[in-house]
Amino acid sequence: GKVGVLYGGKSAEREVSLISGRAVCDALKNRGVDAHLFDTGMNDPACLQGENFDRVFIALHGRYGEDGCMQGMLEEMRIPYTGSGVLASAMAMDKIMTKRLWQAEGLPTPRYVELKADSDFSEVIDRLGLPLIVKPAHEGSTLGLTKVKQIEQMADAYALASKYDRSVLAEEFIDGMELTCAILEQDGKPQALPLIRIVAPDSNYDYHNKYFSDETQYLCPCGLDEAMETRIQRYALQGYEALGCRGWGRIDVILRTSDNEPFLLELNSSPGMTGHSLVPLAARQAGLSYEDLCLTLLRSATL
Ligand code: DAL
Ligand code: MG
Repeated sequence: GKVGVLYGGKSAEREVSLISGRAVCDALKNRGVDAHLFDTGMNDPACLQGENFDRVFIALHGRYGEDGCMQGMLEEMRIPYTGSGVLASAMAMDKIMTKRLWQAEGLPTPRYVELKADSDFSEVIDRLGLPLIVKPAHEGSTLGLTKVKQIEQMADAYALASKYDRSVLAEEFIDGMELTCAILEQDGKPQALPLIRIVAPDSNYDYHNKYFSDETQYLCPCGLDEAMETRIQRYALQGYEALGCRGWGRIDVILRTSDNEPFLLELNSSPGMTGHSLVPLAARQAGLSYEDLCLTLLRSATL
């Protein structure tokens, strides 16, 4: 049947999604799938109904695509789709809800405070220490994020994050190794793929270093000893299940330098699929080519 690859969209991560979507569509076509690109930012998403897609691959990132909105529309249209359902997508898009669920399950995640326009910044700093991270609750690709080193920066950091989102959080900064763990379901069973270690220039894995820099290094195998890798994979899997995710996902993790303790940062329920992206790299390490990965995901499409 006819397969739609939903891409583009209306979020701040639109540019990333355009690249993800094209790559996914090409890969599916190479494998003989009747795949068609559909830009939900340029077209009225309601037009999906007229396309007669049998199933869709969601290659959208950020709001309206990764956060449960599109998923809800597809449910209503009865079109099976890849990845998490409505509730898990919405939970994972919200960094505060994600942390609440993880904390309830006893999973380690950095301490945080919800910031409001009238928050007492010095109280926040007393609780979380400096530096700390200020970021919008519903954004991806480090957009709107500031690493605050002095109290004087707090107001600007809050203002920047607020441009993206009504909901803003301050999070304890964890000094450590950046890692990510991809989760992929095969035959309905979620499995953690090999960890990737991210080494960004000046330890700054921001939007530029994520998508445009050739200096950011991605190490897979990650170089950790097996016991630690397995421990982090177990946490990531628990974090995935705590949110009720489906199909796939990618959990970003920091391994604290001072005591070798891992912390879960966030879960991406519709991770990047660009040439610089991490799930494809982890899949390759596990013996799955980019095309195999796309086919596996498409096969898992469901309502
Ligand atoms: N939010 C981007 C697309 C990622 O996590 O890969
Ligand atoms: Mg993200």
